[in-house]
Amino acid sequence: MKEIVVSGIRPTGKLHLGNYFGAFKHFLTLQEQYDSYFFIADYHSLTTHPNPADLKGSVQRVLAEYIALGLDPEKCTIYLQSDLPETAELYLFLNMNAYLGELERVTSFKDKVRSQPDNVNAGLLTYPVLMAADILIHRGVKVPVGKDQEQHLEMARTFGNRFNRLYHTEVFPEPQAFSVSKELVKIPGLTGGGKMSKSAGEADTIYLNDEADVLHKKIMRAVSDAGPTEAGQPKSQPVQNLFDLMQLVCSPEKIAFFDTEHAEGRIRYGDLKKQLATDMETFIAPLRDKINYQLENTSQLQEIAAFGAEKARKSARKTMNLVREAIGFKTN
Ligand code: TYM
Repeated sequence: MKEIVVSGIRPTGKLHLGNYFGAFKHFLTLQEQYDSYFFIADYHSLTTHPNPADLKGSVQRVLAEYIALGLDPEKCTIYLQSDLPETAELYLFLNMNAYLGELERVTSFKDKVRSQPDNVNAGLLTYPVLMAADILIHRGVKVPVGKDQEQHLEMARTFGNRFNRLYHTEVFPEPQAFSVSKELVKIPGLTGGGKMSKSAGEADTIYLNDEADVLHKKIMRAVSDAGPTEAGQPKSQPVQNLFDLMQLVCSPEKIAFFDTEHAEGRIRYGDLKKQLATDMETFIAPLRDKINYQLENTSQLQEIAAFGAEKARKSARKTMNLVREAIGFKTN
């Protein structure tokens, strides 16, 4: 039997470079060899209370991007999280054995408490439990994600193992964060912070369908520093970020050239950014074309989601029968 892969992306508008290199690129490889479930995490997005029209639009958009960029409904299962109510049922069961102390210690929760003190809802607190349910509902073992999701994966293992121990069962295997390149990645943004993220604002984020002029402007305005004042100075975080972005799209020769320029203290960041903008446009242009084409051809998206939901529910029902039986409930 093939190993089971599960992963999802929150519908927060459109996919960005971090989503692509952290997760989506691996989806494309994995769909060829594994029994893969790729969903759109629309339950998760409710923690920020989107209005219904925006939510619907974002979900459609990410679905269109999944298809445009090469996910194949014949090779993998593509579905909306909210089409799988079994996930919500499993989330309820797992919540009974998830403890306040451990949930409060999760880094992403602590970040939200700091960044949105007026909306610290229970959904935010139990976010890792829902994520565990997403994975365990298919008894997934490989979870292609970026580095920022590592702690959530550890919690998924904790909740699955705890359930197994409590009910003397082996229903849940241990899911592992997975990257085709072995290392989980963290793609930096353009504003000098550690991680590209939509919540850091438009200027931080490169979207997969940014137009050439937008892309150019964003990169030319990226945060750098005042430049090295002498040879051998280490790179500041924002400059290291620019080099990390170059790694994704520029040739090794060009990266080596700017590395030497920096090491010798004579780098011109304008030249580096121009190079990065040119090579990023070469990378983005075909993705942008595919996405824009798909956005004009949305007629099959409903069918694809319905087909995926049916396949996903088959797998989910199987798991839930084992889970309900282990707990002592009647099976369906
Ligand atoms: P989300 O929607 O924030 O991001 C989706 C995927 O993109 C990766 N990612 C990044 N990787 C590297 N560098 C970045 N700057 C970057 N930004 C985003 C994320 O690591 C993720 O893999 N909780 C998840 C969604 C989710 C999920 C799941 C994932 C819900 N249930 C079950 C896997 C399995 C999230 O918010 O990802």
